[in-house]
Amino acid sequence: MGFFFDLYPTMPEKKVIIAIDGYSACGKSTLAKDLARSLNIRYLDSGSLYRAITLFCIQHVIHPEDIKSVVAALPFIHLNLSLGENIKLTMNNEDITDEIRKTDVSRWVSEVSVISEVRNKVNEILRGLGKTNSLVMDGRDIGTVVFPNADLKFFVTADVNIRTLRRQKELEALGRQITLQHVKENLLHRDNLDSTRMDSPLSKAEDAIIIDNTNLNREEQLELALDWYNSSLNG
Ligand code: DC
Repeated sequence: MGFFFDLYPTMPEKKVIIAIDGYSACGKSTLAKDLARSLNIRYLDSGSLYRAITLFCIQHVIHPEDIKSVVAALPFIHLNLSLGENIKLTMNNEDITDEIRKTDVSRWVSEVSVISEVRNKVNEILRGLGKTNSLVMDGRDIGTVVFPNADLKFFVTADVNIRTLRRQKELEALGRQITLQHVKENLLHRDNLDSTRMDSPLSKAEDAIIIDNTNLNREEQLELALDWYNSSLNG
């Protein structure tokens, strides 16, 4: 990783918000983390907050499609996100950083994310953190809704088969063996719900730069984004 620091060692002088949106498992979080590290600013994964609320519903046997009950539960969910290289997320003082990656949570998170009250709660937390910190934030509506005035916006895409392979690898690293077919179905299911919901659907902001990383490796993707950063904000 020294390579990244050597090339781009400077921290932005003024507060900078970089929004990265895109489909599930398209490499948003890898790019966001790499950019944050290179620019020496903080990374924030907005999806983790939707996952936390979904986990709460599962733990309390609230069906994610029972909107009334999910909304009624919201005041009892206290989330705390510590920003940094390794984000730590706590819910009601319990560390849930790893638990939110479980298959059950992935299965239901898009259903929970369609609920406007859930979105309002998450957005309030995200905007609060963005008030005082330079951030690279990834999600589905960061450049369109959460930070429409972000300094730089990327919309990341990749072929669905590549995304499936990447997600399966990630899950394997967490010790979970899931068939490719199952992983792909989950991705397509979430893409569909995320892009067709009424409130803040996944879409490219007009001023977002598209990065299709189907044929890019991690370093190439980062270099491309840093070039855009340098020409847009440092130029
Ligand atoms: O990035 P992720 O896969 O961890 O996100 C989980 C879900 O959260 C995703 O399927 C949709 C929802 N989400 C959202 O609606 N808006 C965001 N800004 C981030 C995530």
